Amino acid sequence: DWTTKDFIAHAVADIRAKVGKDRVLLGLSGGVDSSVAAALLHKAIGKQLTCVFVDNGLLRKDEREYVEALYKRNFKIDLRVVDASKLFLKRLKGVSEPETKRKIIGRTFVEVFEKSLRSIGGAQFLGQGTLYPDVIESVSIQGNPASLIKTHHNVGGLPERMKLKLIEPLRELFKDEVRQVGAALGLPREVVWRQPFPGPGLGVRVMGDITADKLAILREADAVLQDEMMKSGHYWKVWQSFAVFLPVKTVGVFGDERTYDYVIALRIVESIDAMTADWAKIPHDILQKISSRITNEVRGVSRVVLDISSKPPATIEWE
Ligand code: XMP
Repeated sequence: DWTTKDFIAHAVADIRAKVGKDRVLLGLSGGVDSSVAAALLHKAIGKQLTCVFVDNGLLRKDEREYVEALYKRNFKIDLRVVDASKLFLKRLKGVSEPETKRKIIGRTFVEVFEKSLRSIGGAQFLGQGTLYPDVIESVSIQGNPASLIKTHHNVGGLPERMKLKLIEPLRELFKDEVRQVGAALGLPREVVWRQPFPGPGLGVRVMGDITADKLAILREADAVLQDEMMKSGHYWKVWQSFAVFLPVKTVGVFGDERTYDYVIALRIVESIDAMTADWAKIPHDILQKISSRITNEVRGVSRVVLDISSKPPATIEWE
């Protein structure tokens, strides 16, 4: 019989036996899986664990500060935050094609991560929050974008290149079990029940080429959406809710002024496994609030639209 407490006790013993006096490096994204893996490894080996969080300039509002506050201050994890946002944005300059963006982001991530490994003086193990479904997926479903990009944070030749042994304490667990372990380890609800967020982040939510200005607008609009989703409790009921930046200018009026500004699309979906998805029927009064707050509070946006497409044929992300 599987109980969370037993699992944690066994996992801690296993990790200690496997790691010995060696060091473990883990890429922390702030998502559920890497967060629980970090908390579990930290419980087992404490200071022998170093986590690296890469700020790729494509994060949501206050994301980096949140991760720092939680892990560094609360959990006392040895967390290195690498601000590589300038490098990512430079490499992405003028690039519009979605898969090209993903490749650039993935490659740059690996490069930055390898550099931080050297700067901490090396490690023998690479910790990863691989789950049981990832183990199956990476062998069986090829060409599925969801499994494809797991390559960016997980697997994908990284450990071989970096000559590290893998340690994956969650690889026998399903998502709901991982959440239970996370809660038992003291991770807050916002982390344990966090919606998925793609590795390329806002990079695939700014349509077309990415600029700092567009990212800034998207970040503010997205923060309003998340705030209202949290306040109304709908955040916890849907699979994902996020804003998308459309580089299309439309006319509006603000006070007595004519405006000519961008469009924000709201993508809010229900799903079980992201393979199929339905657009979520959020109550109109909440949508109204989100829309009026975005058009009033976010400079550069004159119009908000709602995406009412299901997957298939529309994917969850717009790129
Ligand atoms: P789509 O857009 O293919 O998304 O319906 C399915 C799920 O996968 C996430 N997604 C990604 N995750 N890197 C990731 O780590 C990516 O490049 C990527 N593309 C899509 C998406 O957010 C959804 O949960």
